[in-house]
Amino acid sequence: MSSYAITGASKGLGREFVRQLAADTTNTVLAIVRNPESPDISELASNYPNVHVIKGDVTDPKSLVEAASTAATITGGKLDVLIHNSNAVDPATMSFNPTQIPFDAQATREFFDLPLSTAVYGGIWTTNAFLPLIEKGTQKKIVHMSSGMADLDVIKKTGISYAVAYSVAKASINVLVAKYTAELAPRGIKVLALSPGWVNTWEGEKSPQVLQAEEVMLKQFQAVEPELKGQIQPEESVRKCLQVIKRLDAETSGLFLSHNGDKKWL
Ligand SMILES: NC(=O)c1ccc[n+]([C@@H]2O[C@H](COP(=O)([O-])OP(=O)(O)OC[C@H]3O[C@@H](n4cnc5c(N)ncnc54)[C@H](OP(=O)(O)O)[C@@H]3O)[C@@H](O)[C@H]2O)c1
Repeated sequence: MSSYAITGASKGLGREFVRQLAADTTNTVLAIVRNPESPDISELASNYPNVHVIKGDVTDPKSLVEAASTAATITGGKLDVLIHNSNAVDPATMSFNPTQIPFDAQATREFFDLPLSTAVYGGIWTTNAFLPLIEKGTQKKIVHMSSGMADLDVIKKTGISYAVAYSVAKASINVLVAKYTAELAPRGIKVLALSPGWVNTWEGEKSPQVLQAEEVMLKQFQAVEPELKGQIQPEESVRKCLQVIKRLDAETSGLFLSHNGDKKWL
């Protein structure tokens, strides 16, 4: 009888978290999405009576306070596990190296805007909005989806110089997780930065450019993990992430771990 709230639940890993958690009919699963009418999440909710779709945009603090208030009416004011999964990037500048960031204040803010707004500010607002529910929950766990792309050894070994804003935002999340842990540990609340591995969440057919970019990434990742063959599927990633979340305790709180429960990112 546990309750879970997942942001960015419309697709990809967020939707897979909802699907796997809802399979246990004793769970209450709150799928927080920007558009509750989106067909994929409403279809999932229609198949699982324990899934509740709640409107929430993580870049809008007011919307998160409203989402937490709606969640409280469903769960009786408490929540066991919050998974902040939302993320957005600007595909137009994802391939930029740091030296390509322009000498222009506005353009630089725009360069960082989407990952910072969703992962970092969104992570803070989501946490703070749902904290009163988490305090009343039994498990008291808050999980932020991070990325191995924010691991300094990975950057050094792979030589990946692109994905600057994304990696900076995820590194910020890792520090925030440590700060929240320092503050909230005395209240029994555990916080984790969790990387899901390299996962195929692409919807629809991949263009030749996407396939080529994935080939390049695979070769770079093989500098860290020579046996790596490619991306894993959302089912495997989420299944492993849920095991790590299950094991989260006061000792592992504040850490940045992979879906394997360690620093094996791939
Ligand atoms: N896939 C990987 O290989 C991988 C690797 C490392 C880390 N991660 C991390 O794991 C998480 C999930 O990854 P994914 O591949 O499933 O990502 P994804 O397919 O891009 O999905 C991102 C989700 O975030 C939501 N979102 C975007 N902006 C939002 C906003 N302003 N408010 C609320 N929700 C918003 C999207 O909802 P909309 O439908 O409304 O846009 C979508 O549901 C992300 O944090 C990602 O950085 C993924």
